[in-house]
Amino acid sequence: MKWPTSLLALALASPLASAASSATTGKGDDTPTPDKDGKYWIHGDGLSAAFIPYGASISNLLFEDQYGIVRDLVGGFDNASYYSVDKQHPHFGGVPGRYANRIKNSSFEIDGQTYKVAANENPTPANPDGIDTLHGGPDGWDWRNFTVVSHSDSSITFSFEDPDGKEGFPGEVVSLITYSLTGRDWDFTMVALATTEKTPIMLSSHTYWNLDGFANNETNTALNHSLHMPYGRRRIGVDNILIPTGEILSNDRGSVNDFWSEPRQIGAALQDPALLGNCGFNCTGYDNCYTIDRGNQGDFDWRGDDGPVATMSSAWSGIQLDIFTDQVAFQVYSCHGQNGSMALKQTQGATDFPRTIPKYGCVVLEVEDYIDGINNPQWGRKQVYGPLDGPYTLQAKYRFSLTSEH
Ligand SMILES: *[C@@H]1O[C@H](CO)[C@@H](O)[C@H](O)[C@H]1NC(C)=O
Ligand SMILES: *[C@@H]1O[C@H](CO)[C@@H](O)[C@H](O)[C@H]1NC(C)=O
Ligand SMILES: *[C@@H]1O[C@H](CO)[C@@H](O)[C@H](O)[C@H]1NC(C)=O
Ligand SMILES: *[C@@H]1O[C@H](CO)[C@@H](O)[C@H](O)[C@H]1NC(C)=O
Ligand SMILES: *[C@@H]1O[C@H](CO)[C@@H](O)[C@H](O)[C@H]1NC(C)=O
Ligand SMILES: *[C@@H]1O[C@H](CO)[C@@H](O)[C@H](O)[C@H]1NC(C)=O
Ligand SMILES: *[C@@H]1O[C@H](CO)[C@@H](O)[C@H](O)[C@H]1NC(C)=O
Repeated sequence: MKWPTSLLALALASPLASAASSATTGKGDDTPTPDKDGKYWIHGDGLSAAFIPYGASISNLLFEDQYGIVRDLVGGFDNASYYSVDKQHPHFGGVPGRYANRIKNSSFEIDGQTYKVAANENPTPANPDGIDTLHGGPDGWDWRNFTVVSHSDSSITFSFEDPDGKEGFPGEVVSLITYSLTGRDWDFTMVALATTEKTPIMLSSHTYWNLDGFANNETNTALNHSLHMPYGRRRIGVDNILIPTGEILSNDRGSVNDFWSEPRQIGAALQDPALLGNCGFNCTGYDNCYTIDRGNQGDFDWRGDDGPVATMSSAWSGIQLDIFTDQVAFQVYSCHGQNGSMALKQTQGATDFPRTIPKYGCVVLEVEDYIDGINNPQWGRKQVYGPLDGPYTLQAKYRFSLTSEH
C-alpha cells in the first residue's frame, strides 16, 4: 500500500499498531484503548476504519483508490474531543436516535396518548426552538457519548442507555451498536430495546461520503458520483420543510428522482428546473427518503444476490460502494446545506481547493425505515417498541471495491 504521510502517522499511532508491537514483546492488554486522538481503529483486508464514543460515530474510513493511494472517504474531525465542541454539529458519521429524521409537530400518539418531544428545527416566533424534531431532538443520541464495551482488531461494540423522558420520549431505551470489518466489507448491527414503556425507535448511520476522499483535484463536489438505487421506484412525499405529507410518490422514469432505471450522476439534473424544491423550499438537490421495494420484504435475503439496494461510485478515484441492508427505505442527502464551514481532516484535501466541505461536496446515504412512520399509521410500519416486543434491529453491509473489478 502507498500511504500518504498523514495516513501513515494515523495508522502508526493507532492502538492496533501498538497492540501488535506489545504482542511481540509479550505485553497484552484487553482494555479498549483509543489512539492519541481518541479514536478506536478496526481493520479488514485493505480497509480500515476509526470510531469514537461521541454518537458511536465513524470518524475515518481508509480504502485504496485505483492508483493505490489510500483515501479517507468519510467526513469527520481529526480528534474525538472536537466533536462535542463544534457548534455546527452536522451529525458527522453518528447514529441518530432514538428516532432518526423528522417528527412532524414534534409529537406522536401511542395508545391514544399524545406525547410532545423536544423541537430543534424550523424555529418561528411562536416556537423559538422549532416546529419539528430532527434526529431525536437537540440532545439526541449523536450528541452524546456511547460506551465502548468491546474492541478487537476487526470490530467494536458500543452500548448506550437513553433514560426515560429524555428529549420527551417515553420510557428507557438501551442499545448496542456493533461495527465490524471483514475483508472489504463494513458491517453494522444496531439493536435497541424499550425496557419500560412503548416508544418510537428508528436508528440509522449518518455518514458523509466522498468517494474521492475529499481529495479530487478537478472538482471538490460529489456531483459527479454515480448513484444507482435499483429498488427505489418510490419516495416519501414531503412538504417544504421536509415533513412527510403521508403520500408515497412515484419516481417516474427519466424524472429528477429516477435513480432506479439506470445509474446516474448525483448532479445530472442540477440544471433541471424540476429539481428546485425537491429538497424543501428553494432547495435544489436531494434530501429524500426513497423506498426499497423488494416485493415480500420478509422473505428477502438482504445479503444475497438480489442486493445491493444502492451503488455509488466515482470515476475519478475508481472507488465503488455497494450497500446491502435489511431496512426498507433509504435517505439520500446531497449536502446542499454545506457551505464551506466544515473543515476537512488532515487525511483529506487537494491543492487548489479550500480545506473545507463545499456545497454538494458529499453525499449522505442513510438506511432506515419510512421517515415519520409514527405519524403515518396508514403505512403499517412497526416503529413503536415496548418491553413486550422483540428488539428493534438494523443491519447493513457497506462493500468497497474498485469499478475496474466489475
Ligand atoms: C482537535 O481538532 C480540532 C479541529 O481540527 C483542533 O482545533 C484541535 O486543536 C484538536 N485538538 C487536539 C487536542 O488535537
Ligand atoms: C465525550 O467524550 C469526549 C472525549 O472523547 C469528551 O471530550 C467530551 O467531554 C465527552 N462529552 C460528554 C458529554 O461526556
Ligand atoms: C401539534 O401538537 C400539539 C400537541 O403538542 C397539538 O395541540 C397541535 O394541535 C398540533 N398541531 C398540529 C398542526 O397538528
Ligand atoms: C490530478 O491528480 C492526478 C493524479 O492523482 C493527476 O494525474 C492529474 O494531472 C491532476 N489533475 C490536475 C488538474 O491537477
Ligand atoms: C464530471 O462528469 C461530467 C459528465 O459526465 C464530465 O464531463 C466531467 O469531465 C466530469 N468531471 C470531473 C472533474 O470528473
Ligand atoms: C433561494 O436560494 C438562492 C441560492 O440558492 C438564494 O440566492 C435566494 O435568495 C433564495 N431565495 C429565497 C426566496 O430564499
Ligand atoms: C454555513 O453553515 C453553518 C452551519 O449550518 C452556519 O452556521 C453558517 O452561518 C453558514 N455560513 C454562511 C456564510 O452561510
